[in-house]
Amino acid sequence: MPVDTALRILFVSSEAYPLIKTGGLGDVAGSLPRALLDLQLDVRLIMPAYATALGQLGETKILAQFSEGADTITLREGQLPDNPLKVWLVDAPGYFDRPGNPYLDSNGQPWVDNAERFALFSRIVTRLALNQAGLNWAPDIVHCNDWQTGLVPALLALSAQRPATIFTLHNLAYQGLFPAHYLQQLGLPASWWSHHVLEFHGQLSFIKGGLVFADRINTVSPRYALEIQTAEFGNGLDGLLRHRSAVLNGILNGIDTEEWNPATDPLLEKHYSINDLSGKQVNKQTLQTMLGLPQKPDAPLIGLISRLVTQKGIDIILDAIPNLVKLPLQLVLLGSGDRVFETRLAALAKQYPNKLAVRIGYDETLAHCIEAGADMYLMPSRFEPCGLNQMYSLRYGTVPIVRDVGGLADTVTDTSAKTLIKGTANGFIIGTDASLALLKTVKRALRRYRDKTQWRQLQTTGMQQDFSWQSSAREYLTLYQRAQQTNPKPAPGSNAE
Ligand code: ADP
Ligand code: GLC
Repeated sequence: MPVDTALRILFVSSEAYPLIKTGGLGDVAGSLPRALLDLQLDVRLIMPAYATALGQLGETKILAQFSEGADTITLREGQLPDNPLKVWLVDAPGYFDRPGNPYLDSNGQPWVDNAERFALFSRIVTRLALNQAGLNWAPDIVHCNDWQTGLVPALLALSAQRPATIFTLHNLAYQGLFPAHYLQQLGLPASWWSHHVLEFHGQLSFIKGGLVFADRINTVSPRYALEIQTAEFGNGLDGLLRHRSAVLNGILNGIDTEEWNPATDPLLEKHYSINDLSGKQVNKQTLQTMLGLPQKPDAPLIGLISRLVTQKGIDIILDAIPNLVKLPLQLVLLGSGDRVFETRLAALAKQYPNKLAVRIGYDETLAHCIEAGADMYLMPSRFEPCGLNQMYSLRYGTVPIVRDVGGLADTVTDTSAKTLIKGTANGFIIGTDASLALLKTVKRALRRYRDKTQWRQLQTTGMQQDFSWQSSAREYLTLYQRAQQTNPKPAPGSNAE
């Protein structure tokens, strides 16, 4: 149990696995707070009480009830099985009690009231952070994640005494931009309508709340932290990020090494480990059967699990498929997202049923089966703040083929004569975002695949790497301590006061 003097962290996220997840943020919010608890910090995870999340959590206890404007808010506390982390849920039924995706409606469009939903969430978090909800618990640090929580550092900056704030950027492409009238509608200070504050080319930007006001900003890999300060990757915010570079750094995400462990993964047909990879072959056969592909133990199988969006280079894969299927390989793709990509992929799968299997949708079990059953993993992202699947792949002996960007560049070392001798080779790097470059790199990987000893070396190098949260959680602790040291007036009731 954390001791009383432990640093208190309010970890704020719009999703967290296993309660609700749309991508890597869910994985991170589901595992980093737990790693921080293990460092003896006093951590609470706070998120909206979506119908799905409440359903997953089961029984909750009511911690507080209060009004916020015309709304009545219930703050619930729950706990996940076998997890000591306390989860706080902001229950505001008009905003969050709806089925499906936390951000999108059933047509794949953003919920029309997203500005109101995440502004309300941010107001409640701010209130709790200032110990104004009768809980007698004030955090030293409020750790916000992505645009949905961007207003929190801004709102907290309005208080003379407040906890220190951290803003973690998981993806600069999603900024929470809304029409200008929302500034007034959400009751935000008129002085914030300036490009120095929340205005972004005539729109209200939630992400700028975090980027302008947080005491410290970090992103999820060292490489992405540098990239976002350039015009190429900065999404129009590189100037602001350069301006704040003194308080900006990159901390590589960890992965949940219990959830993603081929030696114990309950979702696999057969377990395997670095010492005995024979089980991987069984998982490959199962995957081929499950997806209706020919049983070919020797055909290299390439997997992909992804949100189907331009970021992930899905269009590059689509262009490459007619040539890829001419090679002696099989391709397995699982994903959902852009309807155009979904339709084109499904059509290609019909055209090449012996080569390409496509599953449209979200399927956690199949995701694990692909990581275990594939020989290679394809991730030709145009940009990738961190990326988790390449790390899951390395752990599962599935050799990643990736672009040289963001967290992919920080975790994957291209295979060459030199890196093989050094023992650092663990994957393949695609040089550019052209489909021809992808094709060439896949061919290069296939040549190496034929040399079983070399291939085994690549697998072993990847499986030996340590992607657990341990060292990254310690880096977050240092970040918190720095933020706390520079916060002039800690909140009343916090340990730092
Ligand atoms: P991003 O957050 O940009 O989507 P990451 O690589 O950080 O990319 O994390 C993606 C996470 O979401 C991984 O855990 C991946 O397995 C999961 N995921 C993405 N799409 C699907 C899907 N269709 N079915 C199951 N899991 C998925
Ligand atoms: C984002 C990024 C991804 C990252 C994840 C978790 O969704 O696109 O690269 O791994 O957040 O930080």
